[in-house]
Amino acid sequence: MLEKFKETTAYIQSKIKTAPEVGIILGTGLGGLVRDIKNQEVLEYKDIPNFPLSTVDGHSGKLIFGELGGKKVVAMQGRFHYYEGYDMKQVTFPVRVLKFLGIKYLFVSNASGGVNPNFEIGDLMIINDHINLLPNPLIGLNIPELGPRFPDMSDAYSKELIDLAKGVAKKNDIKVQEGCYVATTGPTFETPKEYQYFRIIGGDTVGMSTTPEVIVARHMKLPVFAISIITDLGVPGKIVAVTHEEVQEIGKLAEKKMTLIMGEMMKGL
Ligand code: HPA
Repeated sequence: MLEKFKETTAYIQSKIKTAPEVGIILGTGLGGLVRDIKNQEVLEYKDIPNFPLSTVDGHSGKLIFGELGGKKVVAMQGRFHYYEGYDMKQVTFPVRVLKFLGIKYLFVSNASGGVNPNFEIGDLMIINDHINLLPNPLIGLNIPELGPRFPDMSDAYSKELIDLAKGVAKKNDIKVQEGCYVATTGPTFETPKEYQYFRIIGGDTVGMSTTPEVIVARHMKLPVFAISIITDLGVPGKIVAVTHEEVQEIGKLAEKKMTLIMGEMMKGL
């Protein structure tokens, strides 16, 4: 596996001049961030050795290198979900490669369903903890060169980055919530009782991504910042049928706020 990470990294470095300091996984709500990245160099996933291929809509994902807020960044346009049929090593393969490319921070975004009754549709929630109900991506032989067998998870989400984000939000008059993200396999959205269960176990929101990437990043001691858009509510009395299209639509509405926070955070790193 180590050889594969190195092979993929060497290929990317042979094609790209940018040496990225920050990795960004563009989930729902951050698609627009690409427009703000300057001096872009782009690689399609399909051309990168060992990279998984996106199954969504038949279009392949891209790695976009460039500059954002004065920092050299690499953005993943298109991420891999367990529900698509990838195994957890495939889901997290790109994060390993980003670390080998030299990133010092990982930024992640996603869409999720709020189970905290104080949340509203369209809110942004800074993730400060998670409950991972997906298979753990570190199951299997540990590679000591990457990180320890039993990684600590007491500070999975960097307090410094959370403080930075809150400062940016306050300065720009953007409301942000903070809380715990529960990750499930999907692809089904939750039944009312499942939403209730996720609230009872300590969740503020539930989604189908992010924790695998965060676990692998923390295995390698990368500081992580993650933020979620609440696209629907799993709160008694407020539960309605959810569609993927609605999730995308609400994601778009929150895009400006999310993009601004991420862009401004780059300047503060
Ligand atoms: N549940 C799971 N994943 C989601 C949801 C949800 O309600 N909304 C957006 N992603």
